[in-house]
Amino acid sequence: MMNNPSLIDEIDLNNLFDHLLLGPLGRMEPLEQTLFRIRFDLYMPDVLRPLAKLYGGRPDFAAHLENLLGIVARAYAGRPEKLRRLDLRRVNEPDWFQQPGMIGYVGYVDRFAGNLAGVKDKIPYLKELGVTYLHLMPLLKPRPGANDGGYAVMDYRQVNPAYGAMEDLRELATALRHEGISLCIDLVCNHTAKEHEWARKAVAGDPLYQGYYHMFPNRAMPDQYEMTLPEVFPDFAPGNFTFQDRCQRWVWTTFNEYQWDLNYTNPAVLAEMLDIMLFLANQGVEILRLDAVAFMWKRLGTDCQNQPEAHAILQAFRALTRIAAPGLLFKAEAIVSPDKLLPYLGLGTATNKECEIAYHNSFMVLLWSSLAERRVVLMTHALQNMPDTPVGCAWLAYIRCHDDIGWAVRDEDAAAVGLSGFLHRAFLSDFYSGRFPGAFARGMTFQHNPKTGDRRISGTLASLAGLEAAAEQQNWRETDLAVRRILLLHAMILAFDGIPMIYMGDELGLLNDHGYLDDPNLADDNRWTHRPFMDWCQAEQRHDWQTLTARIFQATCNLIQAAKRTLNLHAQARCYAVWTHNEQVFGLIRASAWGRLLVLANFTEHDQTVPRYRVHDMGFAGELVNRLEEQSLDSWSDLKLEPYQALWLEQVPED
Ligand code: GLC
Repeated sequence: MMNNPSLIDEIDLNNLFDHLLLGPLGRMEPLEQTLFRIRFDLYMPDVLRPLAKLYGGRPDFAAHLENLLGIVARAYAGRPEKLRRLDLRRVNEPDWFQQPGMIGYVGYVDRFAGNLAGVKDKIPYLKELGVTYLHLMPLLKPRPGANDGGYAVMDYRQVNPAYGAMEDLRELATALRHEGISLCIDLVCNHTAKEHEWARKAVAGDPLYQGYYHMFPNRAMPDQYEMTLPEVFPDFAPGNFTFQDRCQRWVWTTFNEYQWDLNYTNPAVLAEMLDIMLFLANQGVEILRLDAVAFMWKRLGTDCQNQPEAHAILQAFRALTRIAAPGLLFKAEAIVSPDKLLPYLGLGTATNKECEIAYHNSFMVLLWSSLAERRVVLMTHALQNMPDTPVGCAWLAYIRCHDDIGWAVRDEDAAAVGLSGFLHRAFLSDFYSGRFPGAFARGMTFQHNPKTGDRRISGTLASLAGLEAAAEQQNWRETDLAVRRILLLHAMILAFDGIPMIYMGDELGLLNDHGYLDDPNLADDNRWTHRPFMDWCQAEQRHDWQTLTARIFQATCNLIQAAKRTLNLHAQARCYAVWTHNEQVFGLIRASAWGRLLVLANFTEHDQTVPRYRVHDMGFAGELVNRLEEQSLDSWSDLKLEPYQALWLEQVPED
């Protein structure tokens, strides 16, 4: 649908607002109504622009718009008082999530603490680590049996009964907030489980709900789409469409056969999802991780990812939710190439109008690539070629997540530093699956795609960084190096632009867990190898100085505390990679009005040196202090880095 400016001009905002006053908004205090009106006036242009793009050509556009605003007004009226206060606070402190103290932690409710009440009991542990942002993996009611780790939701308004009830979620959100921790949960907005009520009605033949999904009477259209569609799970879910016997239709299923893609060409779907978002926000959820957003719009002849309309959908959600719950943040899960990724943070006219946070998949991949190669040339080049992060946003900087690692190294970047993209990706797969001679990693191949040669990797941080291999060999030097790698990677995500995210158990060095093989619902998906159960016995050892666990945990805490003290790590500080004149040492500068920070990181198991003149050239003269250890360095010697050591250097201010 084309953008339709005349349509926007035709909308009478005063009339729309008066109409809203007839509903629950009309029963609110005048001050609350005024606040709503201010936001309504502020954000309506941002609401109308993407909606006109998506649905502007429909004769029923005005009715859909009214419906959406009704949802917004009802959610606002139903928003608990304490959350409305939080909104005001967030609006007055818009950089709250960009501040250096933000430390993320992610895990599964059951694997971390049994259930939601259990998570509440673990708040002291999270505080000890310094966490301020907790992402709990999918926790809404999933389909029974295999459910892709909860990413097949059958009811968005109920919590997974194994974890508790909605009341427990509210209580947990409140308890976390009192301790300064913001709760993030997944919202699977690209697809539902085939057991969701909408899907069941669609299967039963209800045309209204058939319009919620992409359904085809025969293979004609699916075959045309398939010509340009990639496969996400070529191993266990090949193809993108599944035949449904009962309704004799082919259904779009990008992921597993039980995950049905929603059809956002239908404005009713957008309205349903908006209602769910605001419902969750009103339970006290502060950040929604919007799952698989790249796939939300389909277009024939393309890979059906990153379509302009997918961005318009996010922008519409953004503007509409800002009216009712401006404190709510969006985190985009778009695991796409760097050039496709940036628009999820809002570019050009969409600046600050899409998602505030997005996974920095490239940085994650480049960290692993540098570690395997013992060279930082590709990482430096690739990062230097990424545009600046838009203002008002934050990357999610992570070492690994619950998903596999796919080697998203661009051919152009590889070629620019003398590598073949294809061969380098093959090398990384070999290295991290432990096949490459001498490799320290013990990962597993996930979804080998013979058509493209892609081999993704599963594994925990510790196993990929060498701790498992070192334990097998009972080799103390290797153990020491593995611990150093773990800490180096943590120092990197803490120093990078945005919110660092620690995966549950990585702070203790948990190894790959093969227990999933005993569960038939999990056994074919080796991503479960790096989603271990929290080992609370091992966690107990974190205070016993003689253990490896304590070494990893305490050093991670120290890194986190250093990050909290370092103002230059604010997400608004510029972040750029620099050449250090040593191909084994990565250099990163964070620069802001607070000053400048030089991060140096040795990606090898050998001592390295960075010449002092190079450090001077980068604008760091005089006495420097390493913020990681609060220790001063003299003003003249070359900088020495131990194996896998990171330095966070700031100039000591002259009095
Ligand atoms: C996201 C999730 C992944 C899941 C997929 C389908 O990519 O991170 O775990 O399989 O979406 O929901």
